[in-house]
Amino acid sequence: MTTQSPTWKHLTQLAARAVERPLSDWLEESDRFARFSFSAPGLLMDLSKQRLDAEVFDGLMALARDQELSDRIDGLFAGAMLNPTEQRPALHTLLRAPAGSDPRSKDVHQTLARVAELAHAVRSGTWRGATGKPIDRIIHIGIGGSHLGPELVLQALRQRHGDLDVRFVANVDPGEVREALRGCDPERTLFVAASKTFGTLETLINASAARDWLLERSQGSDAVGRHFVAISSNVGAAEAFGIPSENVLPMWDWVGGRYSLWSAVGLPIALGVGFDAFTRLLEGAHAMDEHFANTDLERNVPVLMALTGVWNCNFLGANNLAILPYDQRLSLLPPFLQQLEMESNGKSVSLDGEPLKLHSAPIVWGGVGTNGQHAFHQLLHQGTRSFAADFILVGNDPGADEQQRWLLANGLAQSQAMMAGNQTGDPHTRVPGGHATTTLLLEQLDPFSLGALLAAYEHKVFCQGIIWNINSFDQFGVELGKSLAQPIFKQLGGQSALNQDASTRGLIERLRKGVRR
Ligand code: F6P
Repeated sequence: MTTQSPTWKHLTQLAARAVERPLSDWLEESDRFARFSFSAPGLLMDLSKQRLDAEVFDGLMALARDQELSDRIDGLFAGAMLNPTEQRPALHTLLRAPAGSDPRSKDVHQTLARVAELAHAVRSGTWRGATGKPIDRIIHIGIGGSHLGPELVLQALRQRHGDLDVRFVANVDPGEVREALRGCDPERTLFVAASKTFGTLETLINASAARDWLLERSQGSDAVGRHFVAISSNVGAAEAFGIPSENVLPMWDWVGGRYSLWSAVGLPIALGVGFDAFTRLLEGAHAMDEHFANTDLERNVPVLMALTGVWNCNFLGANNLAILPYDQRLSLLPPFLQQLEMESNGKSVSLDGEPLKLHSAPIVWGGVGTNGQHAFHQLLHQGTRSFAADFILVGNDPGADEQQRWLLANGLAQSQAMMAGNQTGDPHTRVPGGHATTTLLLEQLDPFSLGALLAAYEHKVFCQGIIWNINSFDQFGVELGKSLAQPIFKQLGGQSALNQDASTRGLIERLRKGVRR
């Protein structure tokens, strides 16, 4: 995409005009909600509090057409080479395609059958540990895409949890493993090591600590075989760790880590809430895929999410996006979307390797409402920064539950306050307003709607990558820190010379001597 195109220039002019008009004026149009709210499986998206009118809308559609977005969407489903730097397609939609609908998904369904079988065996007590006892605790070890999705989904669906206690260990912090192992019975604990590469330092260190803990408390050699399963595309490395190949569920090259929730990486979901719920999650995501693939751009929810984001980010100056779920069960949505959006679209070169002349992904952050209202919303209402925000509300039956009604009332009130503000004469109490937000309303927080919501964000990220002409599916930026940590690790242990910059050297010396001395 070039900022010199007629479409881009036209949108720039429209933006200059749009910011002059108070946002509350836009909301006075009587048909505004009907015009700017859109339905997709499991959810409704309200864009009426965005700075959109017919002309802006047409301009954004022209932008999508300039980038041949419809063809690119077809390419996503067809398996086009979307990740050229790693020579891979991005076929995460295949992970939720119904059985028999696509000849390419045979392996996927064979693996899902193994997930179902394993989840059933553990949940029903037929899977036995090395001493013949059933499992009552799962410890899932993985990080990034091998962690964030399963924990988010289990947290969101926690009311449906059965007897199995599912815990997650991601950080290499020793306290995290200790905490997860607290109260565990080694005879009744099953570890799930999830790592696409089976080479991620945090996961290997944590899995090794868990294996040591298990072996110190076990007799006999098959403890690892009965108490560890792995999810990985590197079966050899999992076997070298001691996990028998029949306990290794596959992942594939054509699924990026942050898009892998729908694969065997979702095993803890099937273990925690049952395979049927996992299946409904996949069905929700697939329903969103169908909507995305088959709906005109003008009514296509992920496309409109993406274009509105581009409008806010590239034309109206919002450099960050706040994710504000008004439901405690969705408290892990902000970190999940942080990885999805920032690891995918945090890029500064185009697909051809040329420096971008426009901004790519905003900084994504957020937190659950109403808690955020008593923490960071002050800045949103009266600070000097621009921002964009997504409110996520869940439409359980508000009439039936007073607390739920308060939650929704607060969510709606916040987006209204951000839009209209409060124009008092006193500068200290004045709330300027003028902050455009999107509201996503889930029918209810069930596996289907949740699957649809997460798939909608995946497709939004894909569309924005197309508009910005970047590769949304690699993540080379994360590698540098990993390699720099290697010599520092040795230097912290006094095992190699301190050939570092002055700051790093000084800090290492302090850490080695004891910080205060
Ligand atoms: O470091 C980033 C990352 O590569 C993510 O993309 C990925 O989800 C995560 O690490 C974990 O990788 P793996 O599943 O290979 O352990």
